[in-house]
Amino acid sequence: MTLLAVGKVLYIAVYNGASISDVIFGPRPRLLRNSDPFMIDPYGRTVNYLRVSVTDRCDLRCIYCMSESMTFLPKPELLTLEELDRLCSAFVDKGVRRLRFTGGEPLVRKDIVGMIKGLSRHIKSGALEEMTLTTNGTQLEKHADALWDAGVRRINVSLDTLDPVRFAEITRRENHGQVMNGIAAAKARGFLIKINMVALRGLNENELSKMVAWCGAREFDLTIIETMPMGDIDGDRTENYLPLSMVRASLARDWTMTDTPERTGGPARYVRVEETGGRIGFITPMTHNFCESCNRVRLTCTGKLYMCLGQTDSADLREPLRNFPGDDRALHAAIDEAISRKPKGHDFLIDRRDNAKVDRHMSVTGG
Ligand code: GTP
Ligand code: 5AD
Ligand code: SF4
Repeated sequence: MTLLAVGKVLYIAVYNGASISDVIFGPRPRLLRNSDPFMIDPYGRTVNYLRVSVTDRCDLRCIYCMSESMTFLPKPELLTLEELDRLCSAFVDKGVRRLRFTGGEPLVRKDIVGMIKGLSRHIKSGALEEMTLTTNGTQLEKHADALWDAGVRRINVSLDTLDPVRFAEITRRENHGQVMNGIAAAKARGFLIKINMVALRGLNENELSKMVAWCGAREFDLTIIETMPMGDIDGDRTENYLPLSMVRASLARDWTMTDTPERTGGPARYVRVEETGGRIGFITPMTHNFCESCNRVRLTCTGKLYMCLGQTDSADLREPLRNFPGDDRALHAAIDEAISRKPKGHDFLIDRRDNAKVDRHMSVTGG
């Protein structure tokens, strides 16, 4: 009897022009302005930045990131590029102003630049402020022009050393020359470039000053990062862990650094280097917590949303995406529910007994 009644209501509604999901979720909301802070988490933080890991695969094997014999996701598990576009667009509808594409290595995913180009419609409409990329640089020479045409203007390139031999030691691959060519091509094309350098005791700690000079001479920002305990690696992370307080003290011997309130949207806190005029950013999740100003969430290539890099809780967005093709309301509801669960902060801790506090690799969420 009840079933019959529900069926009748559905039939009348659909007959009168509503879709099944109109009936389930109510009428479509008015078109919302993207400048409104739609996504506010339980701690009052506005979430307006989405990091999208478009693939977990990578052509390097950085020792702090993954083991040599890393197992990647089977390809059929990945969302299609069309699905990724729809997900990113749903976040833009909900107030995201910045998209950053990461991986693994985002440029190893076939046709990814085409997807980015498609999403540039949101920049043209004014809904999105910027689309950026974090890359290891190996494929950058090939894609620099197309990325520029797709509307990307700012690129972060991971480069832990300028020395080819040490590069091979850290990444377990021989692509140093390729990365340098990629960076040169991106600079020639006019991108704003930031170099990400993970500070590694015994590996690149004696190169920090050289990297400051190298970046300063090329007008690149430099970000120095503390290793975070994410995912199993072959070795012991504590061996290479270098707190940035020590890095800063050692740089102060060569450079005059002044704190600046400038921000790039990420967790880096910057100093200006008087001698080069350049900026150094310090990312210190281990020694200082910056979670109180966190504005971001992370989407994986399988459609999982992680509300914090340093926690395990996630929300599945693939189901509402696939179950309601052409209607984003279930997706929006799932996003709202996920944001309501965003935690206060991470609890990374480098410690010998429990090396990887978060057993997911950084390449799953892209940092
Ligand atoms: P911009 O400030 O926009 O240039 O970017 P970003 O520095 O946030 O991005 P990038 O992808 O270059 O990341 C640099 C480092 O910051 C990586 O090691 C990330 O894992 C780390 N990072 C980015 N966001 C967070 C965060 O919310 N928490 C923590 N703990 N680390 C983060
Ligand atoms: N700790 C800190 N940084 C890491 N990255 C990858 N794994 C780690 C880790 N465990 C860095 C990469 C890249 C950025 C996205 O994250 O070097 O620059
Ligand atoms: Fe690849 Fe980046 Fe991990 Fe290095 S840190 S293996 S470049 S995903």
